[in-house]
Amino acid sequence: MSIIVTGHDFNLQTAHTSYLMGVLENGEMGQYYYGPRLGDKVNYADFRHREFRSVTPTLTEAQADVTMSMIKQEYPSYGHGDFRYPAYQVTYDNGARISEFEYQDYEIEDGKSKLGDLPSASAAADDQHVQTLHVHLLEKQSGLQLTLNYSVFEDEDMIVRSATFANTGTTDLKLNAALSASLDLSDDQYDMVQLSGAWARERHLYRRPLTRGVQAISSTRNASSAQQSPFLALARKQTTEQAGDVYGFNLEYSGNFLAQVEVDSYNVTRVTMGINPFEFGWQLKPRTRFQTPEVMMTFANNGFNGMSHNFHRFLTNHLISQRWVKKPRPVLINNWEATYFDFNEQKLLDIAKSAKSLGIELFVLDDGWFGKRNDDHTSLGDWQVNLAKLPNGLSGLANKVHDLGLQFGLWFEPEMISKESKLYIKHPEWTIHVPDRRMTPARNQFVLDFSRQEVVDYLFDQIAAAIRETHLDYIKWDMNRHITEMFSLALPAEQQEELPHRYILGVYQLYERLTSAFPNVLFESCSSGGGRFDAGMLYYAPQTWTSDDTDAIERLKIQWGTSMIYPLSTMGAHVSAVPNHQDRRVTSLATRADVAYFGVLGYELDISKMAPAEKATVVEQIKFYKQYRELFQQGTFIRLQSPYDGDGNVTSWMVVSGDQTTAIAGRYQVLAEPNPGYRRLKFAGLNPDLQYTIEGVDGQFSGQQLMSAGIFIPALFDERADNKMHTFDFDAKLYVIKAV
Ligand code: GLA
Repeated sequence: MSIIVTGHDFNLQTAHTSYLMGVLENGEMGQYYYGPRLGDKVNYADFRHREFRSVTPTLTEAQADVTMSMIKQEYPSYGHGDFRYPAYQVTYDNGARISEFEYQDYEIEDGKSKLGDLPSASAAADDQHVQTLHVHLLEKQSGLQLTLNYSVFEDEDMIVRSATFANTGTTDLKLNAALSASLDLSDDQYDMVQLSGAWARERHLYRRPLTRGVQAISSTRNASSAQQSPFLALARKQTTEQAGDVYGFNLEYSGNFLAQVEVDSYNVTRVTMGINPFEFGWQLKPRTRFQTPEVMMTFANNGFNGMSHNFHRFLTNHLISQRWVKKPRPVLINNWEATYFDFNEQKLLDIAKSAKSLGIELFVLDDGWFGKRNDDHTSLGDWQVNLAKLPNGLSGLANKVHDLGLQFGLWFEPEMISKESKLYIKHPEWTIHVPDRRMTPARNQFVLDFSRQEVVDYLFDQIAAAIRETHLDYIKWDMNRHITEMFSLALPAEQQEELPHRYILGVYQLYERLTSAFPNVLFESCSSGGGRFDAGMLYYAPQTWTSDDTDAIERLKIQWGTSMIYPLSTMGAHVSAVPNHQDRRVTSLATRADVAYFGVLGYELDISKMAPAEKATVVEQIKFYKQYRELFQQGTFIRLQSPYDGDGNVTSWMVVSGDQTTAIAGRYQVLAEPNPGYRRLKFAGLNPDLQYTIEGVDGQFSGQQLMSAGIFIPALFDERADNKMHTFDFDAKLYVIKAV
């Protein structure tokens, strides 16, 4: 039993953690404990100690020691004496914003059911290791019901939370804020860890000590964004990759979000996460409901790798489509950096033919195949083939690609519209804008109003037709700008604040319909690279284009940061041309592949123009990747040496098979060093009692030795040798480790 109820107290247990809460004096829910597992027998009374504090509001005149600002709460409200930021706020029909929810009862569900119109985790009812608790509260005056939902995933040490509001009364209400979860931790000795960035430098790792007051990350861009990920971790000061306590929080949502930490005057740390209350409002009419997205929460006492493994296993087992998650993902060629908009059928077929001969499995035609799109000024919305470029139509090209024995994939940017398009002439009202205000372009394009059902229907028909015509195997779904002038011509004034969330619901609806109607099409999500890499997207599209920045050295930081939450099976990683198109850096073909192997491998350069020696190298690379594909895509990924530590000159990481008999580690050195110091590389995740060999290294090693002592790493070059023709910068080396 993972959920133990004692009177009005609840104990949610996973394999290694406990989460405790109970009903407070005022009928709301109180938070008692989250951390290492406590077992079945808990002294709850100790968590209910109250102390008198002068000059603070108390619950009632009689209960002078119940000061709400000193109590740890589960889903806190504002207005009755807790002056910290709340988890929600409701405006009642008289304009008041004071809620009085009282605990009613609870239900326990076996497994975990899906949420419906939002991405969500799931587990079958007969899954013995997953249970869901629904705690029901009622606001008696208004008839507003609140349900706090907790799904306990025992094996993955994960608790998934959300809240459901249902108006069972007779008056109109408005939600001003409805976050997914709030958690009060009993001290503040943590560092806050976040993943922040920009285009071409997504999910860089930042770590800072908590301080009194509010510290937060958020998005107001209507996408989870490259700027901030909907994730945060709280780690003890001494926590490293391999050891120490860390809490991880990740939101299953792709729109505006808030991830906030507030340290109060009593050293309590409040974490709140959910839809950003800024630019949010929801009319809750009688007999309607509002469901928040879900937050994944985990605790690990074995460092950041421990936290990441919980996330990786959870996403793999319970969130990403089971149809795809363990299926070998095809090695692809994408024509974008090879041709940009300048292609014709012959050019594409030349690339496809070379791709086939090198062992590539999927040909992806990127932007520029539709409407009159010869640059990024036109045609978004007109998803009909450009016959000037592809005179035999989409099916003509697709048939030839299929005949080569390759799968065929296409790029779409469904949410966008160009002013220079047939769609804009026909339906200017489908564009998000305010009629009497300036329209702000970005990448020369505008955004379709996905809150309108007819827009979603139109896109479904357009994309479905292309899928049917081409027997399509793969779609890259891009999203290349954020939303400005947020306004829908289809919504009344009082519902305009609903548009940001309604927009995302429209995006999810289109994804849901396409993936249900065409279950064999593999989706890869993208947003100017990795600008919408989140668990919401992964629910529909099992892989994401990690970044437009394909430079191997830049990718070390990007892939390292991304792996904090997401498993390797989700990360598109391509080998591209040099000088690199994003930063002009020149790295070897070997280094580029040695980084891209740790993800879903692809190539994105004009392979038809490669020299024979380079082609031969690519053949070997793809052979190697296919040999270890299951390991690279499904193995346990472990970060070893961080590109964020010290001068960041050395990064290493590895992937280990489930049975610990095979592992591959990568060691990357950015710049060569003169007269370098003594170096060893310590591995992790191996079986201490097994004997291993390492390709290219003499002798055998016990797993224990490889993990505790590591192996000696020789200098990159011998000073006495004739090295004049070489550069040793941007060096990469792989270690293939096998149990004897
Ligand atoms: C975005 C994507 C790229 C490519 C272009 C096409 O930038 O991230 O991979 O698809 O759009 O316009």
